[in-house]
Order: sequence, then C-alpha cells, then structure tokens
Amino acid sequence: MQRTYIKDTPQKIGERVEISGWVISRRDHGKIIFCDIKDVSGVCQVIFYLKNESLKDAQKLRDWFVVKIEGIVNKRPENMINDKMPTGEIEISADKLEILNQSQTPPFDLLGEGIEINENLRLKYRYLDLRRNRLQQNIKKRAEIQLFIRNYLSKRGFIEIETPILSKSTPEGARDFLVPSRLHKGKFYALPQAPQQYKQLLMVSGFEKYFQFAKCFRDEDLRGDRQFEFLQLDMEMSFVTREDVMDLNEKLLIEIVTKLYPHKKIQEIPFPKITYKEAIQKYNIDKPDIRKDKTDPHLLAFCWIIDFPFFEKNEDGKWTFTHNPFSKPTEEHMENLLKKQNIDKILTTQYDIVLNGLEIGGGSIRNHQPEALKAVFEIIGLSDEKIKENFGHMLEAFSFGAPPHGGIAWGFDRLLCVLNHELNIREVIPFPTDGNGKTSIMDSPSVIEKEQLEELGIYVKHNKEKNK
Ligand code: AMO
Repeated sequence: MQRTYIKDTPQKIGERVEISGWVISRRDHGKIIFCDIKDVSGVCQVIFYLKNESLKDAQKLRDWFVVKIEGIVNKRPENMINDKMPTGEIEISADKLEILNQSQTPPFDLLGEGIEINENLRLKYRYLDLRRNRLQQNIKKRAEIQLFIRNYLSKRGFIEIETPILSKSTPEGARDFLVPSRLHKGKFYALPQAPQQYKQLLMVSGFEKYFQFAKCFRDEDLRGDRQFEFLQLDMEMSFVTREDVMDLNEKLLIEIVTKLYPHKKIQEIPFPKITYKEAIQKYNIDKPDIRKDKTDPHLLAFCWIIDFPFFEKNEDGKWTFTHNPFSKPTEEHMENLLKKQNIDKILTTQYDIVLNGLEIGGGSIRNHQPEALKAVFEIIGLSDEKIKENFGHMLEAFSFGAPPHGGIAWGFDRLLCVLNHELNIREVIPFPTDGNGKTSIMDSPSVIEKEQLEELGIYVKHNKEKNK
C-alpha cells in the first residue's frame, strides 16, 4: 500500500490507509488499546482491537516506538470528536501493525513547549528536542521564509552566488575564527565574519544584483541574540541609492509578514526613518523598541536608523569606524572624508533595520572609488603598507571600473526569532551552540590528537586539566 500522511486521513473516511510514524501516547483499556500516532504532518488516533490476534504486538508499544499501521479510517461518534485536533473527527481502526523500531524513554518530555527543561540537556539531545511541535514549526518556518525570499529576489533579477568559507580576515570588528593551513604551515585562513568583500567584488564583476544566505562566523561574547555561527541574508546591488536598497528590503519584509505571518500586525508602513541623533535623544539607544503596545505578541514595529556617525574614537583615542569601513559617507561629507577633516562630523550612508528593539540588519552604500576607500583606512590610522597588505586587492579591484554599489545583510536568525515570538535565537536554529559556545550533541570544541596537530605544525601549550 501507499503511505498516507496523517493530515490527509480526514479526507479518507471509509477507506483503508497505511500510516507510518511515532507512538506519542498509549491508553490500554484491556481489550482495546488507543494510541496517538504522529508523523511530520500531524497526529491521529488509532484503535487496536486485541480480539484480532495479529494486533497483539500493540501491547508492546511504548512512547516513541516507530510503527507502520494499516487500517480503516472511521468517523468518530459525535461525543468522541476532539475539536482540538485537526484529525479529531476520525480515528483509524487498525488491522495490521508493524513495529519498525523501539525507543528508549527520552530524557525529557518532547510534547510540551520545553522552555522549562534545562537547555544543556535539550541541546545534548537536540535531535529529540527538535521533535517537539514548537521547534518543528520554527524550523519549517525558517525554510519557508528562505524559499519565499529566494523566489522574491530571483524574480527581481537577483543571482544567488556562494562565496568562500575558507577566507581571509575581514575588518568587520569582531574576532575571527581561524583555520590552520597544513600546506602553508604557520598560516591561517579565517572563517568569514560576512561576505562583505566578496560581494563587493561581485559588483566589480558586473553581476549587479547578488544575494546569498551566508553562514557568518564571529568569535564574540554570546548572548540571546548572538551565536558564533549565524545566518545572514546578504545582498548587494549596483547603481542604487540608499533609498533603493531600503525600499526593496522594506517591501520584502512586508511581503514576508503579510504572506507568511498573516495574523501579525505591522505598526507603521512605511517604516519610520529615525536618525541616529534622534534615536539617542529620544530613546537613548540606536535600536529603539518603538512598539506602542509591548504586551501584544503579534505587533511588529520596524524602523530604519540612518545618519550614523562614520567614525568614533576608541579607548586609545584613535579613530575607528562605527559600522563598516567600506561605507560611503553621505553626499555632503565626501569632501570631509577625502580631505580627512571634521572627522567627528562625517555621517555614513549606513542604514540599520530594527524590529521590536532588535537590530535585524544593516548595510550601506559603498565607497566605489579607491581614493575614498583609502581615505577611510588612513583616518583609522593604517599605514600605507598595512592598507596594501590588507586591502590592496580591493583598491586594485576598484581601479578597474567598479560601479557605484550598496547592500545590506539581515541577521536571519534574529528576524525569525522575533517573527516566531521566541526570546532566544537558539530556538530558531536547528543545531545551535550553548551559551558557552559548546556545540549541540557533538560537544565541540574538543581536544585534537597529537598527530593531527603535528601535521598542522601546531604546538598547543595546554593545561591538561582544563582541556579534558
Ligand atoms: P552586520 O555586522 O551589521 O553587517 O551584520 C548584519 C546583521 O547580522 C546580524 N548579526 C548576528 N546575528 C546573530 N549572531 C551574531 N553574532 C550576529 N552578528 C550580527 C545582525 C546584524 O544586523 N557586511 C555587513 C552588512 C552590509 O553592510 O551589507 C554586516 O555584516 O542582525
């Protein structure tokens, strides 16, 4: 027989079906056993009448056993209808049972929300934790939104292009994750903090509209909205203004909400544009939560923050960039940048997108002319030698007719976290690391064998106890 998905069983009243899935509850009434069976699509009730000799294995069933069942779909008697279940009008009267696998008792409950369970335990058994409905919904939504975005952007002429993971350190402001090279001992790759330089190089190549779901890696302090490894929806476009990029992204966000979260309400359209100065004056923060009603779980208050200062002084009193060294200043400040004057006054074309107080994305129009980009590096105090060593390839690339361009990257996990009304991005990531950066299930980082280290030319000065 062909398998029927459980969600489709109510359309098959009177018919014989075969279903496969997991036992999630079992009520033994002696001669009759009721089980709830779950597959990826839903849950339904199955009845085993034990007078049927071939069903005696039903007595062995326990929670999370994997089964294949054949039977007849029957309408339930009126007083037995369960309107809380999409399949609550039917039950399957089994006449064939095959136990496909047994299961140990899981270390924690998999049917509830799971918020109260110790998170390290949940992450150790993440493959079980992911069985719970809440996480199944989060992960399915993740895929749905990605598919929606891919279609939306592809239809508008964007090309999805992958960029390398074994890369070189980019000055995005966080610490890099390094990968030692075996062939070039003593040298290291860096995992990308973002595909910033590659996407700009793709504009030099003439692709004009690029996007990518890009894994990014940053070795920074972990928080509820930060992981070492996270996903960006990354975009870059040629011949665009700041308003073009903001407009496209705003429309895409509105479409995602209206098509995939129709029960949610966007507080204000068009999204308010708040200058950095206003945000600090009014909210004392550059990612304000402007919701008029913070108790409403379905209210989404997007806003743009613009006109950030380009530079700020660091602890050593040296100038550093506030966001992205590749950004262009606003029109009226180009002269200041090129002349390296009034540095504290220079504003960048940077735009951040904030949702309910969380920065869910940011981008800018870039300096496509080598002199302007070089001026940024000079202001932050890099010597000619360092500029050449770190960014010579970018300056050179821009000297071959780089088009004006700009882009943005969304923190995809963060967006999903707010849309799905979760408090922590770990709840929307299939296999996140814990709050201390340990991977789920596989308990990495781990100690490496001596031989492997030798091959890489690495000597680890370690504290044996600590590294156990
Ligand atoms: P930025 O550094 O602002 O910009 O990153 C873009 C967005 O990524 C999200 N984000 C994170 N999400 C989870 N965990 C993290 N550790 C983490 N760090 C950042 C945030 C942020 O807004 N290349 C530029 C973009 C551009 O200019 O086009 C960039 O990476 O939501």
